[in-house]
Amino acid sequence: MSDQQTATQVWNIVQTTAFDPDARTDPHGRLKDLREACPVMRDEPVKTWFLTRYADVRETVNDRSLWRHWSRAEPGALLRRMDQDPDEPRTDSILSMDEPDHSRVRLPLAKAFYARINAMKPRIEAIIDEVIDAAPADAPFDLIGEIGIPIPILVIAAILGVEQHRYREFREWSEASILGLNPLRTPEETERMEWGSGKLADYFTELMQARRAAPQDDLISDVVALQAQGAPLSDEEVRVNLSALLIGGNLTTTDLIGNGVWLLLRHPAELAKLKADPSLAAAAVEEILRYESPVAITNRVVSDERRVGGCPMHAHQSVITSLHAANRDPAVFDDPDRFDITRKHVPHVAFGGGSHMCIGAPLARIEAKQALARLFERFPDLKLAGPEPTWRALPFFRGMEALIVRG
Ligand code: HEM
Repeated sequence: MSDQQTATQVWNIVQTTAFDPDARTDPHGRLKDLREACPVMRDEPVKTWFLTRYADVRETVNDRSLWRHWSRAEPGALLRRMDQDPDEPRTDSILSMDEPDHSRVRLPLAKAFYARINAMKPRIEAIIDEVIDAAPADAPFDLIGEIGIPIPILVIAAILGVEQHRYREFREWSEASILGLNPLRTPEETERMEWGSGKLADYFTELMQARRAAPQDDLISDVVALQAQGAPLSDEEVRVNLSALLIGGNLTTTDLIGNGVWLLLRHPAELAKLKADPSLAAAAVEEILRYESPVAITNRVVSDERRVGGCPMHAHQSVITSLHAANRDPAVFDDPDRFDITRKHVPHVAFGGGSHMCIGAPLARIEAKQALARLFERFPDLKLAGPEPTWRALPFFRGMEALIVRG
């Protein structure tokens, strides 16, 4: 606990996020303070509960009786305030849907998505190898820009069925629409985001029509076929959820790869274990997800009176669960601040849980595992080659602006 604090003072939620320059560099000390001093904290000014103990986080994310949609949270709740235009009517993605719509949309989408990922695993791995093989062999380069960013965009483009000659535009639209994750974006960025989202929606409409007329071997063909067989999904729901796969999967996977490479380069003994036994790549990915997860929090809305850690919570109160804090809870993980890719049991909550658990988890795991394996195979002497990296000022996410390395 810092010098200025007394036993009863704790950090507020915003002070644990990338909004705050100190927490941006390292959020874990403040989260530890909270977990020890006030694990079930009510942050009244932002009308939100904040949970930092693994057991409370796990119980909350797994509880299917809780709501997800922020519009059900009381006025003034932090996540409601961050939704810049709450009155604008729009179709929700599964990310914010509640039952019964959530299951109606998620189940067929997940079935099609998982079948696609399985069928395309060799192609996904080949795309990753190509990206890594294109990185410069004899000069320093930015791992985030050259490898972390292109991998998830090219992979999701191939899964969806984006035509090769539209890749450049698709990447531009995807990167623009991801600005939507930043509640502090400038008006110019909002304009760019709206332009990108509009372009993506138009392009998805075009692809859906084309695939209805002539199916191909891709996810868009699978989803329109499901509609034709009677799956109750409107075209707008398909468009919005295909965009959610992009928005949910791009930055997160970029950061999983970036954080992973950074951690391994800073922990040479762990990297040596991985090089000596490449079959440890899957376990390394789980430890990276636990130790420096790309997504810091997830949220739920209380649907009925309940108690967490003895604290009474009321319907419509907003709850933010700290995935970062849960993943370093010593009650579950021995010596939690030690990065150890040979941990035997890593039940982290980096992907959340329950009915909203990350739909992209299997894909993220394939991508990160292949990226690490190929990277250290192609660059066995990879090293850090720049100043200490700058962490992105994007609240609730954890990733670097750039990571300069040399092969
Ligand atoms: C390292 C990579 C990733 C991390 C750490 C991550 C993390 C998360 C978390 C924490 C949630 C909320 C879960 C909850 O509230 O219980 C989530 C939901 C979601 N993620 Fe991911 N994600 C990653 C990659 C992906 C990928 C690759 C995709 C898609 C291609 C994706 C798409 C989604 C979607 C659509 C949801 C909403 C699911 C629902 O509410 O039913 N994510 N993710």
